[in-house]
Amino acid sequence: MAKYKTILVISDTHFPYQHPDTLEFLRRLKASYKPDKVVHIGDEIDGHAISFYPTDPDLLGASDELQLAIDRLKCLYKLFPNVDLVESNHGSLVYRKGKVMGLPRNYFKSYNEILEAPKGWKWHFDLTLEMSDGNQVYFTHGKTAAAGKLSQSMGMCTVQGHYHERFEVIYWANPNGLYWDMRVGCLVDDKSLAFNYNNTNLKRPIVGTGVIINGQPKLVPMILDRNGRWIKRLV
Ligand SMILES: [Fe+2]
Repeated sequence: MAKYKTILVISDTHFPYQHPDTLEFLRRLKASYKPDKVVHIGDEIDGHAISFYPTDPDLLGASDELQLAIDRLKCLYKLFPNVDLVESNHGSLVYRKGKVMGLPRNYFKSYNEILEAPKGWKWHFDLTLEMSDGNQVYFTHGKTAAAGKLSQSMGMCTVQGHYHERFEVIYWANPNGLYWDMRVGCLVDDKSLAFNYNNTNLKRPIVGTGVIINGQPKLVPMILDRNGRWIKRLV
């Protein structure tokens, strides 16, 4: 198994309802950290218009939303031609809808075909990688909001997305070593109507993502100004 020195995590992007500075932010992180592995933690697209929940009549229809998501993803394909992604509740909406309607997966195109993604983009149910310090790290979209629980259950370091307002690293140890559980926030546009459902929550989404360097996690917040735009000088 390859050992990775610097793993850049891309948190939930929800294209086309991503934060407007997402691509510039990720471009800067790529240049700063020079990752040898990139993992997208899921919810790469939003799929609002094909959601199981009521859709907002003031947002795009299903076809236009998908096309705009693809157009924006294409910028990410250029920036990161090789990405491993974990399956997620939003990313898998089309298959989940098909299942509810009794349609086998063979009737559907692959993620790569639907999103016009390059061969270097690979979807996994979940993913375990080896880090340069010899420890393993487990990536999954979102299995538990309980701090540290996933890492302790798996007995290895873990990374989750899904919980947009969670941006934290919890460390724990046993006689064999030191482990951590990282939650990487999200890269969504909190002002979009697609996230209106979230407006009654006290906790707001935290925009940012995470990097793993030599086996140690680092959270990188996207520092925003009063208009919600990235203050570029602070990365
Ligand atoms: Fe998400």
